[in-house]
Amino acid sequence: MRLSSFSYLLLIPGAVAWNHIKASELQERLQRGERTLVAYIHHQPQDKPSQLLEPIWTSLQSQPPVDETAIVSIECSLSLPDCLQADVASYPAIRLLLLPPSSQTTTPNATSNKPKQHRYRGPRTASSILAFLRRMTRQSSSGLPTPVTTENMTTFASTADDVVFLGRFGPSKGKEKATGLSGLLRKEYESAARRYRDRYTFGIMTVPTSGSTVTCQNNVEGVHLSLSAAEISRPGAVDEFVRRCAEEVIPALTRRNELSFYETGKSIVHFFPPTPDARAAYLAEMRPLAQKYAEYLHFVTTDPREFPGAAEMLGLSRSQGGLSVQNPNTGDVYPYRRREKISAASVEAFLGDIIQGNVHAWKPGEGHDEL
Ligand SMILES: *[C@@H]1O[C@H](CO)[C@@H](O)[C@H](O)[C@H]1NC(C)=O
Ligand SMILES: *[C@@H]1O[C@H](CO)[C@@H](O)[C@H](O)[C@H]1NC(C)=O
Repeated sequence: MRLSSFSYLLLIPGAVAWNHIKASELQERLQRGERTLVAYIHHQPQDKPSQLLEPIWTSLQSQPPVDETAIVSIECSLSLPDCLQADVASYPAIRLLLLPPSSQTTTPNATSNKPKQHRYRGPRTASSILAFLRRMTRQSSSGLPTPVTTENMTTFASTADDVVFLGRFGPSKGKEKATGLSGLLRKEYESAARRYRDRYTFGIMTVPTSGSTVTCQNNVEGVHLSLSAAEISRPGAVDEFVRRCAEEVIPALTRRNELSFYETGKSIVHFFPPTPDARAAYLAEMRPLAQKYAEYLHFVTTDPREFPGAAEMLGLSRSQGGLSVQNPNTGDVYPYRRREKISAASVEAFLGDIIQGNVHAWKPGEGHDEL
């Protein structure tokens, strides 16, 4: 059979794909003051995570740029010293690079003009990476919170990002001036905004009254929290507040966070989405149930591409995905095999039956093809 040249291209793995630049070209771009998002990848056949990033990166490159940010990739097997110099320890690593304006005017000197690096730590999806770019371009280069007013703060809190913090601080006079409190609280907040600027969005406003507060809005989880002036001044309180507000009821299991779930000894309700889109629907359906049982169970979603073999170990088939409950203390696993489709009600009934001992733990070898 003769293939047209177009379908022939589609058959070559990676044909529509990575278009790497050299490390020297990256330096030249930075010297010109270009803001650049770089994926440092390593294209060994085994490096699955780099391969998984490829379609995401290609799709980012085909979209309108966020604030003129160039999106490039570097193959580290060809430029290993440059990758090591950029502190790349595992692949793929995603960094937003920008040379500070002052050093752009001096003579090009790759060693003295070190670009400012911002690590991307979020999930490797196009939408999360774009949200990161918008967040990083919204705040000033110093990382100070965005000024808001009473007119635009509501829109800002509900549309600027998934998780938005808003600091309201009293004027630096009057009662708070006497103790210097509002200035101190403001500093505390600004330093948190710098620490977390890559993950969440921060706004700030001055209010005529003396009561300083920090509020947050998690637009995904529907959570609103606030922190009073007295609480803000407690050591570590702002970090704790940020963590609490950003907490996902049903997080995605990653290599970085998996230990934290296994350490608590609570049972884990895994869901392997059969398709990437199935995750969002599952979260919408299960969030209330996960909240209800948060004290006893961890609900997580587990990406079979990131954890190959995990679905099979939990009694599921990799291609069909599904739900399985794992007790890390006993090693028992309970794959969901019921005829009712997965819903909050059917899973709650299933969990109840497990607790009452009415469901037998699955043994490896029992197969996972029954319906
Ligand atoms: C770059 O700057 C460093 C430190 O200022 C200096 O040691 C080095 O010689 C410079 N390199 C070039 C190529 O100008
Ligand atoms: C809100 O409005 C003020 C005054 O017009 C403006 O300076 C500020 O940048 C606005 N903030 C946002 C997030 O739109």
